[in-house]
Amino acid sequence: MSRNIEPLVKPVIPPFPLDDSLYYLESEEIAFFRRQTNIQDEVALKTHIIDIQKEAYKVAPYACIRSFDFLHPNLSKLHVYDHILKRGAEGAILLDIGSCLGADVRKAVEDGFPAHNIIASDIKEAFSELGRKLFKASSEPGCFIPGDVFDPAFLSISRPASSVPEGAMPDIQTLQSLNDLRGRVGVIHASKLFHLFDEEKQLQLARALGGLLSCEPGSIICGTHAIALTSEKGIVRHTVLGVDITYFCHSPESWDCLWDGVVFEKGQVKVETRTSTIDMGGIPFRLLHWSVTRL
Ligand SMILES: C[S@@+](CC[C@H](N)C(=O)[O-])C[C@H]1O[C@@H](n2cnc3c(N)ncnc32)[C@H](O)[C@@H]1O
Repeated sequence: MSRNIEPLVKPVIPPFPLDDSLYYLESEEIAFFRRQTNIQDEVALKTHIIDIQKEAYKVAPYACIRSFDFLHPNLSKLHVYDHILKRGAEGAILLDIGSCLGADVRKAVEDGFPAHNIIASDIKEAFSELGRKLFKASSEPGCFIPGDVFDPAFLSISRPASSVPEGAMPDIQTLQSLNDLRGRVGVIHASKLFHLFDEEKQLQLARALGGLLSCEPGSIICGTHAIALTSEKGIVRHTVLGVDITYFCHSPESWDCLWDGVVFEKGQVKVETRTSTIDMGGIPFRLLHWSVTRL
């Protein structure tokens, strides 16, 4: 599929030099990559991963690529993961937005989410091929649709669905625009994506994703992203390797209000949030793990 994709938003972190010493995988993640790639030797696995990381960093110098964070599945660590797998068994569509090299969708397939109902999407079309190289796979787990979440032809704001859309479900293998999925997606996952954008764009993205969600009770939007170390809404500033970076963060409270009352009518959804702290290649990040479940 060829689409002309112009990024509207630049990565927030400038391209710092790569540092192999940041490579780290938990033992269960090593086991996951061994199963997926069939590379059993740990040193050979590390060499393979670092080769792909270098290629990915040339495509887009995100902090999560430099810190190897893109390897760690986020979705399977969320408090709602069992619920998501259950939704998968019931036939729900899973959309992973900002899917990068696809660790989350590959883990979901391994854990039983039906691959034919999975859509991974990212502004960087090159990540599809790099994901296949990383996982030594000949195909996508489900399908990959490239696109910019701020391109209205690809994803525009629409009101949350109040009824099941009429007509047949579009064939997701030939889908070109996420707009065709309005009101039809049972599970939307967005990790380390919202914090790339300013407050206005975060609201735009939340409204657009809210419009894709099925109105069926239990339909869910979830993810993980950075919030301020103080957990207050506002601009966060860090100095990383001598460079000042700033980004906008919601607080757990403002994130709750955004979904329950702004994107959705008050009382239409249940918002749950948890926090943790990680070090992303020398950058201290406080993470918000969140879910918005349709009631
Ligand atoms: C920081 S990475 C996080 C990747 C992955 N979700 C994770 O948690 O490891 C952000 C991802 O969002 C994608 N992205 C950034 N801006 C985007 C946009 N406007 N539309 C779609 N994807 C975008 C990037 O290409 C990148 O793969």
